[in-house]
Formats: sequence, C-alpha cells, structure tokens
Amino acid sequence: MQTRWIQLNEQNYDEAVRMGADLIRSGELVAFPTETVYGLGASALDGAAVSAVFTAKNRAQDNPLIVHIAQPEQALDYAEERPFYFELAHRFWPGPLTLILPAKEKSVAPQVRCGLSTVAFRIPDSETALDLIRISKHPIAAPSANLSGKPSPTEGAHVFEDMNGRIPLILDAGPCRVGIESTVLDLTSDVPRILRPGLVTPNEIASVTGEVSIHSSVLKQLEEGQTAASPGMKYKHYAPKARVTVIGGNRRIGVLQEKYDEALAQGLNPVFMVSEATAPLLNGNTVFCGKGDPVTAAHDVFSSLRACDEGGYNRIFAEGYDTSGEGLALMNRLLRAAAFDFIDTM
Ligand code: TXA
Ligand code: MG
Repeated sequence: MQTRWIQLNEQNYDEAVRMGADLIRSGELVAFPTETVYGLGASALDGAAVSAVFTAKNRAQDNPLIVHIAQPEQALDYAEERPFYFELAHRFWPGPLTLILPAKEKSVAPQVRCGLSTVAFRIPDSETALDLIRISKHPIAAPSANLSGKPSPTEGAHVFEDMNGRIPLILDAGPCRVGIESTVLDLTSDVPRILRPGLVTPNEIASVTGEVSIHSSVLKQLEEGQTAASPGMKYKHYAPKARVTVIGGNRRIGVLQEKYDEALAQGLNPVFMVSEATAPLLNGNTVFCGKGDPVTAAHDVFSSLRACDEGGYNRIFAEGYDTSGEGLALMNRLLRAAAFDFIDTM
C-alpha cells in the first residue's frame, strides 16, 4: 500500500482533512495528530476497520482502543454516564484525559473494547483531530500510531517510520505538544481509578472527584497471575532497540557516569538520555531529554528514545525523576522503556 504523508499547511489543510474524513467513513485507517501523541484512527462504528488497526500495529487482540469524540454528550450514545463524567469533561476536555464508562448494549464496534464491558473516551486538544471527527461524523477509535512495543510517535516522521506501506494516509501537523499519552481514568469503579498516568495528575483529578486511586501496576510490573485493569499495562512498552537503565535520586549524576564508563569499558556504545540541566555535569555522548523538569522531559521522552536508536547507541542510561506530580506519568513510561531496570540512588 502506498502511504501518503501530508504536512498540513494553510493551503492544503481543508482538502487533506476532507480526504482523511472520507477514508475514515469508508473504513480505511488515517494517522492524525493529537496533543499527546499521534493516533492511528478508524471509525469506531466499523468492526472491520478497527480490526485493521490491530493488524497495522501488530497489536495484541485483548488491548482495547480509546474512542475519540468531539463533544462530551457523544459518549452517551454508546455508554452510560457515571458520577463526575461531565465535571471532568468540562474541566479537562479537550485535553489529555481518557474516561472509562460502562458500555451500552448497542455501542461502538465490539472490536474496540476487546470483550470488556466498558468503553474509553477522550476529546483530543487538536484542531486537526477534532475536524477529522466532525467532518467524518464518526467517533474515531485510535491507539498511538506506533508499531506495538515501540516508543509512541510524537512527530509525523515517527509515524512514517512505523506505518509506511501499512496505511493510506498520515496527516502531519508537526510535533505533539504534550509528548506522552493521556491519563486513563476508570469511572466504573467505586472510587475513580487511574489506570495509566498522564499529564492530568492525580491531584488535579481529586480536585474534581474528591477521591482518586492509582492502580498498583502504574510503577510496578504486574505480578504473576494479577489481571491487568488496563490491558495495555501487560505488555513490554515504549522500548527502543538498546537496553535502557533508569537512574534516579540525589546521587544519580555519579552513578550515571559510573555505569556509562563501565559500559564503555565493555566495548558498548552508550549514551546518556538526560536533561539540558544535567548534561554539563556528565562526560560522554548525550541525547537531550527535557530541560530538567518532568513536563519538558515528558515532551521529549519518546522522541529521545527514538533518537538514541538512530544515533546507533546500544546502551542507554536515562535520568529518573521523582514520582510526584507530572513525574508519575514520566516515570511510568521510562520504567516500561527500561523493562523496570531502575537504580534509585536516593
Ligand atoms: O493520548 C492518548 O491516549 C493516545 C492518543 C492517540 O489519543 N492514545 C493512546 O492509545 O495512547 P493506546 O491504545 O496506545 O493506549 C490506550 C490505553 C491502553 O493501555 C488500553 O489498554 C487502555 O487505554 N484502554 C482502552 N480502553 C479501555 C477500557 N475499556 N478499559 C481499560 N483500559 C482501556
Ligand atoms: Mg500506545
């Protein structure tokens, strides 16, 4: 299949988005920008199109998709309302929050939710995404537009690298503002529960809901026999080709240097993946990741992981962060990229 990769500009925008909407309506796949990461979209009402998303990504068949909508009310065509739904929607949408509701009997295509009795929704904060939903008049089921297991795509070029030949169209609106995926919040449990952290933090959610819980798998590997509330948490994720070790805590600079030097001595080609603030304190090859705070690090984390591979490095030593505030989401992604290889220097 020939993949068209269109860099959107004022001249081509209307025609390109209309082409995307026509493809969605006719059961084809379209990669599109959101404020978090690029999505690989299909009509959520078309089971065959949704199945094709799983094939294009090599995605496990039990990992459900998020349905992208343009208005909070649209979710109630397919799912039941739950307490706090509209309060959270009005406070955080459009934006990086996904809300899980109980599915109605007549709902989106069953392939979207992989046998679960719930459906996940969000309104993305991207003009292109919203236009695609509005013009196609379909809710759009979309996972991140990467091959399963690889870092999520935050630029059109990342999507092209993974999806060239697999999908007909990539709408490219430049780098994503946020850089990591949305916070996934389950509203079907007694207390709203975070299944995947994102830049909408537990405290921000609690300011609306009063209480919020965080699923135990957010910073840990699932234990043998433990079921995944969010099936995506089961899989090895975000992994570059090179092995990653995350090193956090107050003594991280010394340990980063020590591990790097050991790797060099073993004949490896290591790289530091650290902030602009930390880089001058270290001696070696560096791929920058953020300015020294978790929000800018989250913005860069997936593109930096890809850049480490592109640089030909075969061993990555990444700077870890405190898990308070936005650091929780960043560490959730870094620890998965590292398959939980983490050194806390305290
Ligand atoms: O920011 C985002 O959320 C991006 C953009 C494209 O919107 N999308 C994204 O999709 O990250 P994906 O498929 O890579 O991750 C969706 C996550 C998975 O961990 C999946 O298991 C979970 O949401 N999920 C989806 N539906 C669910 C449901 N009904 N119950 C529990 N978890 C669900
Ligand atoms: Mg993903």
